[in-house]
Amino acid sequence: MIQKLLTQFETIANALATDGIAVVDDFLSREEVQSIVAEDDFKNGLLRFKRAGIGQAQEHQINESVRGDFIQWIDPAKSSSPIQIYLQRMNELRGFLNESLFISLKDIEVHKTIYPPGSYYKRHLDQFKKDDHRKLSAILYLNEDWQETDGGQLRVYFPDRQKDYFPLAGRLICFRSDLLEHEVLPTQRARMSLTGWMLDQLNDLKHL
Ligand code: OGA
Ligand code: MN
Repeated sequence: MIQKLLTQFETIANALATDGIAVVDDFLSREEVQSIVAEDDFKNGLLRFKRAGIGQAQEHQINESVRGDFIQWIDPAKSSSPIQIYLQRMNELRGFLNESLFISLKDIEVHKTIYPPGSYYKRHLDQFKKDDHRKLSAILYLNEDWQETDGGQLRVYFPDRQKDYFPLAGRLICFRSDLLEHEVLPTQRARMSLTGWMLDQLNDLKHL
C-alpha cells in the first residue's frame, strides 16, 4: 500500500513538473468513492448545496451563464470518515509535493460539487485576481459508469492544444491553478466531484 501510494505520488509530482497537470485514475478505490457518494448530503446535494458563485467576498456573484454547479464547503473538523480519508490522502500528497518539488503548500480547501444536467462552467483560471493563494487545483471525480454521451468533460487549454478528460469515478486531476485555463463542458447527467485547492497559506475557513 505504501509502495503503491509513493509510486502514485511520484507520478503526480513528475507530471506536474513537466506538464503542469497530472491525471491519476485510481486515486480513490471504488469502495472509497461509493462511500462518499452514499452520504446523505451528496444524495440530496441539489437540495442541500448552494449555487456556486464567481469571485470572492464583495465581488461574489452568482452568474448562471458562467457556471451552474452546486457546492458545499467541507469543514475538516466535522467531516465523515470517508471524506477524512480523502482529506488525509490529499494532505499526504501535499507533503510529498512540497519535498519533491521544493514548494511550500501549506493547506488545502475542498468543496463537494454537483453539476445538474444541462450545467457547465465556462473557460476560466482558478486563481482569483486579488487572491492568488490557490497554487494547485485538485479534483476527484465520483461518477460511476460515465459514458461519452454523458458529456461533462473537463477541457484543459494548453498553449498549443486542448485536451478533454471525462469525470470518471476515482480519477484525480491535479493542475497548476495559475497557468491552465479550463472549462467544464455541458453535462447530460448529474456530475459529482470533490473540488479542491492546495494553498500557499493556511485555510482561514472563511467559506464555512
Ligand atoms: C472549478 C472547476 C472542473 C471540474 O470548480 O473551478 O474548474 O472538472 N472544476 O469539475
Ligand atoms: Mn476551475
